[in-house]
Amino acid sequence: MMDFQQRFKTSPEVIASAPGRVNLLGEHTDYNDGFVLPTAIPQRTTVAIGFSADDRHHFYSVELNESVAVVPADSPPQGFASYVYGCIRVVETAGHPVPPLAVFVTSSVPIGSGLSSSAALEVAVLRGLRSLLQLDLDDVKLAQLGQQAEMQYAGVSCGILDQMACSLADSEHMLFLDTRTLDRQLLPFPTGAEMVVIDSGVARSLATSGYNQRRAECEAAAHQLGVKALRDVTDPQQVASLPEPIRRRARHVITENNRVLKVLAGISAPEFGALMNASHASLRDDYEVSVPALERLVEILQAMPDVFGARLTGAGFGGACVALVAAGQAQAIATNALNLYNRAGYNGRILVG
Ligand code: GLA
Repeated sequence: MMDFQQRFKTSPEVIASAPGRVNLLGEHTDYNDGFVLPTAIPQRTTVAIGFSADDRHHFYSVELNESVAVVPADSPPQGFASYVYGCIRVVETAGHPVPPLAVFVTSSVPIGSGLSSSAALEVAVLRGLRSLLQLDLDDVKLAQLGQQAEMQYAGVSCGILDQMACSLADSEHMLFLDTRTLDRQLLPFPTGAEMVVIDSGVARSLATSGYNQRRAECEAAAHQLGVKALRDVTDPQQVASLPEPIRRRARHVITENNRVLKVLAGISAPEFGALMNASHASLRDDYEVSVPALERLVEILQAMPDVFGARLTGAGFGGACVALVAAGQAQAIATNALNLYNRAGYNGRILVG
């Protein structure tokens, strides 16, 4: 595989990386100031960064085999380069000049599966910039800069879930995060359980338009309920006065926040699994972000012995499913579930298990 040296004919100054994430519970709650519960996945994005030999930035992605040169004063680039450039720009805007750079990106985080390939790239680039330029940024500030880069340069009005997870989560714990206060705790996985993640093979369609529409619906619901954000409502009965569909959208967010909070008490694997199943039903019926492929995959997983619970993960509209299964069973369950799923005519793949 090509490396930085071969590509840019010089050595990198720094190498940095960040993992992708899977969200176990708390979906579509972050932009409602709510609660989330992600964990890091083994797949990572790595960047090697050095100084450019000319007055332009040069970005190269191994997986995309794409090379982009950016003149700092020109209009921002598209595609993977928009995330890299976005990170450079938000660092500059925060008051730290950045010289022209050569950035070499390689990643095992799948793109378009809802596992935060973009946030992994942002956090990896920002970690690289932090060490290259000796920036005084903590991991939370770094996540916030990543979110800013995503909103301003990739055009997604995302919450802070992905960047916080890629910056602060590890794969041995669940990261409980209050997205309003950014208070957080690393929690152990439920005893006797491990995780399976399967990509449905159906790329997220409508992800941006559907996502932005849901976000607007939640804002409308909060406004009509007279609260700053839906996080401020804890009783699902309170949505009764709202018109449809925002009544259902608000109900999802309220019940989902309540489900995440239940985990704080320290619950068993079967209890956790039941919350995941309920989360999936709510995402399907109230939030309407599921698709037939995800339904099939979740149905297969939920019906298998030793599966405590399963749900779609990430924004929905395609992407991956996560399941909590009995310890030691992940590999066998993932293999069997994938066989059944692919026999139904799909083209899924195991990402964790
Ligand atoms: C995407 C966004 C996150 C979050 C999830 C849904 O991953 O980037 O901010 O809203 O969808 O939970």
